Amino acid sequence: TTLVKQIYRDAESFGGKEVKVSGWVRTVRDSKVFGFIELNDGSFFKNIQIVFDESLENFKEITKLSVSSSIVVEGILELTPGAKQPFEIKARKIVIEGTSTPEYPLQKKRHTLEYLRTIAHLRPRSNTFSAVFRVRSLAAYAIHKFFQERGFVYVHTPIITGSDAEGAGAMFRVTTLDLRDTPRTPEGDIDFSQDFFEKETNLTVSGQLEAETFALAFRNVYTFGPTFRAEKSNTARHAAEFWMIEPEVAFADLEDNMRLAEDMVKYIITYVMENAPEEMEFFNKFIDTGLFDRLNNIVNSDFERITYTEAVDILKKSGEKFEYPVEWGMDLQTEHERYITEKVFKKPVFVINYPKDIKAFYMRLNDDGKTVAAMDLLVPGVGEIIGGSQREERLDVLEKRMEELGLKKEDYWWYLELRKYGGTKHSGYGLGFERMIMYLTGMSNIRDVIPFPRTTGNAEF
Ligand code: 4AD
Ligand code: MG
Repeated sequence: TTLVKQIYRDAESFGGKEVKVSGWVRTVRDSKVFGFIELNDGSFFKNIQIVFDESLENFKEITKLSVSSSIVVEGILELTPGAKQPFEIKARKIVIEGTSTPEYPLQKKRHTLEYLRTIAHLRPRSNTFSAVFRVRSLAAYAIHKFFQERGFVYVHTPIITGSDAEGAGAMFRVTTLDLRDTPRTPEGDIDFSQDFFEKETNLTVSGQLEAETFALAFRNVYTFGPTFRAEKSNTARHAAEFWMIEPEVAFADLEDNMRLAEDMVKYIITYVMENAPEEMEFFNKFIDTGLFDRLNNIVNSDFERITYTEAVDILKKSGEKFEYPVEWGMDLQTEHERYITEKVFKKPVFVINYPKDIKAFYMRLNDDGKTVAAMDLLVPGVGEIIGGSQREERLDVLEKRMEELGLKKEDYWWYLELRKYGGTKHSGYGLGFERMIMYLTGMSNIRDVIPFPRTTGNAEF
């Protein structure tokens, strides 16, 4: 069997030759004596046109095929320069493998993204989702390629952990399943000392702390895996299960960290534009008509760098009526982030040196005693796609910060030992993979860039 992608990439060499393809019917049109099938074989975003006529013994059956039926076609590939399709297959034989019914939900008409979410098992067959999930796959590959080419070691950090990296909000707790037998304390709480792990565990919110242990052995490392946050916020940018890429680099400061992030984002965009031109064309035409301009602009510009304090000044002086008025010390909201990237700079912006009180315990305290060496990368259309920092390597400063926040040293003993045994300056960040895909495709809801989205009340599939 020949894959349709091979034919598209090298049509000349297939011209006039016998081919055999298999796939799913997207449309059938017929007149009395001949007909056309748009076939998608899954290997490529685009369809191939099949021409058939009444010389086929099952001509009648073929004209009655429902959308999504699966067939195997043998015939001659004919180049048709000048026609709407650059080539078509003149069928000699069509075998019907699996029929479908007229109730098939994905008929030719356009469907809303909201509707398609309710049929997550079928939506990969639509053009939009075919493009999204091909781009998602390629972007993942581009990320591995970027880090591997630079000698980074890929570390698989645990999904089930006994620590909380971010202290940012609710986590999913892990306990053994048999609820009747779950051991309870006299107060009725779950008794974790009797549980599988003999302690309280949760699904990881970030692989960072474990990645740090590897960075202090391998120097340059990265993780790429699922992370979990029990976010109740029902937004277009938050999911309870999302994938994160977390590089961690020894001997690197905040500047090095930003340079790596900027190079990585540009690399991903360039790679996907070059390797998924048909899909990207589709997004630029049907999803976000400013997409190419924006992506090209990003690849060719230097990202802006401003401090949190400067960002607050800009927002205060903007005269803009924000839902959340801006004060130094508050966390920037999406409306603020978008104002900065979309109205002021019109390109990606690193905001650095946030107040320590709105950031995680591990971020390195700056000399002013009030801010930490944090960096968030904000991009037009999406807002924050990356959060990172230089890490606190000074044991005494770190311990003091943990005390202030009420974190127990015993719980982080291994993390603290990294500061005792050859501790060094080091930095890293986390890229939200779905946010990156939204940015790449122009899709505006996180539910539409992950195959089976997990948001509040949504775990049907
Ligand atoms: O800013 P965050 O919380 O940073 C960390 O977790 C650090 N430990 C990363 C590090 O330094 N190694 O999350 C990083 C990124 C965010 O910028 C955002 O893109 C994404 O992860 N993210 C989410 N994406 C989808 N749904 C959610 N609920 C997300 N929460 C964070
Ligand atoms: Mg963040």
